[in-house]
Amino acid sequence: MAAALTINGSRIDIPAGVSLFEAATRAGVRVPTSCVAQGKCKECIVEVTAGAELLSPPTRYEEHLDVRSSHFRLSCQSRAIADTGEIECHTMRRGHMRIERHALNLPTSHQRMPLDPAVTRRDTDRILIDGVEVARSTDHIYGLAIDLGTTTVVMRLINLESGELVADSSFENPQRFGGSDVMSRIHYDTEHRGKLLRRTLAGYLTHAIEELPVDPKSIYEVVIAGNSTMRDLFFRQSVYTIGQNPYRSITEIEMAEGKRQTTSLVETGRRCLLPIHPNARVYGLPIVSGHVGADAAACMLAVDLAHEDRRIAVMDIGTNTELIVGNKHRILAASCPAGPAFEGGAISCGMPGLEGAIEDVVLNDDGTFRLGVIGERPPEGVCGSGLVDLMSELLRTGRMNEMGRFDDDVHRIVIDPDTGISFLESDVNELAQAKGANVAGLHVVFASYGIDFNDIEVFYLAGGFGRHLKKEASKRIGLIPNIPDSKIVQVGNASIEGASIALLSVARRQELEALVKKVEHCRLETHPGFFDFFVDGCQFKPVESADQVTR
Ligand code: FES
Repeated sequence: MAAALTINGSRIDIPAGVSLFEAATRAGVRVPTSCVAQGKCKECIVEVTAGAELLSPPTRYEEHLDVRSSHFRLSCQSRAIADTGEIECHTMRRGHMRIERHALNLPTSHQRMPLDPAVTRRDTDRILIDGVEVARSTDHIYGLAIDLGTTTVVMRLINLESGELVADSSFENPQRFGGSDVMSRIHYDTEHRGKLLRRTLAGYLTHAIEELPVDPKSIYEVVIAGNSTMRDLFFRQSVYTIGQNPYRSITEIEMAEGKRQTTSLVETGRRCLLPIHPNARVYGLPIVSGHVGADAAACMLAVDLAHEDRRIAVMDIGTNTELIVGNKHRILAASCPAGPAFEGGAISCGMPGLEGAIEDVVLNDDGTFRLGVIGERPPEGVCGSGLVDLMSELLRTGRMNEMGRFDDDVHRIVIDPDTGISFLESDVNELAQAKGANVAGLHVVFASYGIDFNDIEVFYLAGGFGRHLKKEASKRIGLIPNIPDSKIVQVGNASIEGASIALLSVARRQELEALVKKVEHCRLETHPGFFDFFVDGCQFKPVESADQVTR
């Protein structure tokens, strides 16, 4: 007799006394590790979604994981203690997220611009960074662009001599054990000295780099984009001040005190614990201000804001939604703490945009659902774009009202009878609040700029999630402004595209350094209309400009 373990979709028996790590290995599932199951590296973390009570109590190596309030365990420390039952868990590197190889519909692209990288070659074998020799090699020269998202990490390997995209990779940010949003991560990092968050991420990045199809030592520069918290955690900065009013990164504080000229950061590969060339440089893009981080800066590069005359908006919907409005003459930016709901977090049926995620939902006249699943396999949950579709369909057919209440006193709607995947009214509440934060951000930024939504010529919807949204459904539930489809341009992951551009052009990098200093930071929490906008934004109805909002 043995309990059954399902890990990353693979099923295997797990006899009592066997660890999740050992069972996973037997099932052919690779769990990240650098300490060979000694409890030291903290990389073998898994999220247990069923059967946690069938596992041994946490050991001293798991003190950093609050197993009472979260479902994270170190797989090398958790052993089966029962002879029957079902345990389900997954690692933080489930499959591959869908990556847009090329950002779409952007005015510029790292593949269409003149190359001007910081890393160059002279005399066939001398490798230089900013004209200073750092190595000798006749091999290709590579660089990495990395977008450190709160939920997802995306990486691109680029040949710095040809500009060619050689490989890309992505994984769920393993720091999720420290909370799903930036404020919890800041709290966790402050409570748990010892840089656990950073070390765990560095371990995952190391594995991802070692899996790339080139010698890691031929990587000479890395450009990091990410929100202020993710970027500063990576660079070993204290993030405490980002979590306290007025929410400033240490780099921003030091710049205000005249101690530094820029909020960008530079380190060596060695000090960043990455297995790249030891003399390689790691450059953290500048942050704008507060929570408007290096990811927003990267988006500005991707949409070529430094040369833009038209009035544009960029909305990058994520755990933190970035908003940028303006043109080269005046730019306003804000960050909205939306939380992870639209990335599938905190939703009973939610999951990231991986194989098995429902991404398309149509509600038929007979009340049944037609579902589109990524990878055309049995559904396991619903990803962000599927959730937007689902709510739009419920709204269209009157099964949910504008307040997010289901009809007929029903609190649960079964979407897929075969698997039992259901959508709860309490899920709608989570999504309403995430949407409310985004809508409030939109209203505050546009009102501060003194324009309304229709004054915008191009509305860029950025991010992996934004790429897959249906415009009609997004407008119906009020996730994005109710403007003509022709103005809405879905551009994929603009942040990684911006990081790639910075990797390939010193001139563009310098332009960005100057541009971020011109950006006016819109502090949402201090705006007098924020709360009303938030309450209004929690309703599921089209979002019109502020003067049309009925309050
Ligand atoms: S394998 Fe290193 S802590 Fe579990």
